Amino acid sequence: MVLNFLENISLRPYNTFGIDVNAKKFIAVSSTDELIAALNQNPSENLLLIGGGSNLLLTKDFDGLTIKMENRGMEILEDDPKGVTVKVAAGENWHDFVLWCLENDYGGVENLALIPGNVGAAPIQNIGAYGVELQSVFLSCETVSIPDGKVSTFYKADCEFGYRNSIFKNALKGECILTSVVFRLTKAPHNINTSYRGIGEKMKGKSLNIQNIAQAVIEIRSEKLPDPKVIGNSGSFFKNPLIPQNQFLELKNQYPLIPHYPDSEGKVKIPAAWLIDTLGYKGYRVNDAGVHQNQALVLVNYGSAKGAEIKNLAQEIQLKVMENFGIALEFEVNIL
Ligand code: EPU
Repeated sequence: MVLNFLENISLRPYNTFGIDVNAKKFIAVSSTDELIAALNQNPSENLLLIGGGSNLLLTKDFDGLTIKMENRGMEILEDDPKGVTVKVAAGENWHDFVLWCLENDYGGVENLALIPGNVGAAPIQNIGAYGVELQSVFLSCETVSIPDGKVSTFYKADCEFGYRNSIFKNALKGECILTSVVFRLTKAPHNINTSYRGIGEKMKGKSLNIQNIAQAVIEIRSEKLPDPKVIGNSGSFFKNPLIPQNQFLELKNQYPLIPHYPDSEGKVKIPAAWLIDTLGYKGYRVNDAGVHQNQALVLVNYGSAKGAEIKNLAQEIQLKVMENFGIALEFEVNIL
């Protein structure tokens, strides 16, 4: 198979942070066969996989092979009175898929509207927002193994989903590439989730349907989160930390208004945004690297920030949060 490898190109258009680093060798693949051929032809290259490039901070040039997944397509595998089972190519844009579901009145992903990135990346970090996680609609995904090009299917029980986590971020990190995802979506009457603060408020006076839920989510996200087309960012840069109950009680003594959510395993989830905000970081800026003024969890590139400058800022925040609250903040974004 003849493949069109490019050399020495800027990755700026391929990451939502808008970081300008160089890729030694680059290929956009539009099918699983092309992906397997690209792997076969470059057996000893280091690999960088890019989907929507929306959860990635590039801090240096990449001198291996960069593969951008651009396969497309949605196929209904089953259609019955209760719902549909649909297979979606990894290279489809996530929000476009959500819009397609809304147009067809297929429920399950409406709370996940406007999340940047591609379908193939969604299971890797079990994307979640406004009370819903990807795993609630996920049935399976197809992968290509990097060492030998073997195609496999992973069912939900194989994926070890957790909060912004899956087997693909852990045991299988760097081992395989997702090429498609199968979802189970509902037909009306849908199971609508308005549990998240803010959604109920936006829904007042509106009929309870998935289109209005998505509209509410889109409005809330647009009010708080910067549009990566306008200002480079990767959504939440940090995960919300889980802390033990006794540590939470000590913090609550000091900060009676600390927001918190109960979590499974008896731990307490604290919004990282609140920790960062309380330290006065909202709107903080070093050269072109900054903390977004409306949402302290989001780091932004005002124009020509280097990946290392964003990373330095993130590490400074980690250090200050540790010094002040004794809490270790973890990155949600992948750093290269
Ligand atoms: N808060 C502050 N300062 C801020 C922002 C928030 O103090 O600048 C406090 C408020 O008390 C607020 C609380 O933090 O009530 C939680 O904030 P928010 O509801 O905005 O949610 P989040 O915890 O900051 C998480 C996800 C988002 C997701 C929203 C909505 C993570 C790391 N982030 O944010 O996901 O959209 O909930 O469900 O879990 C993403 O992953 O890229 C992302 C945007």
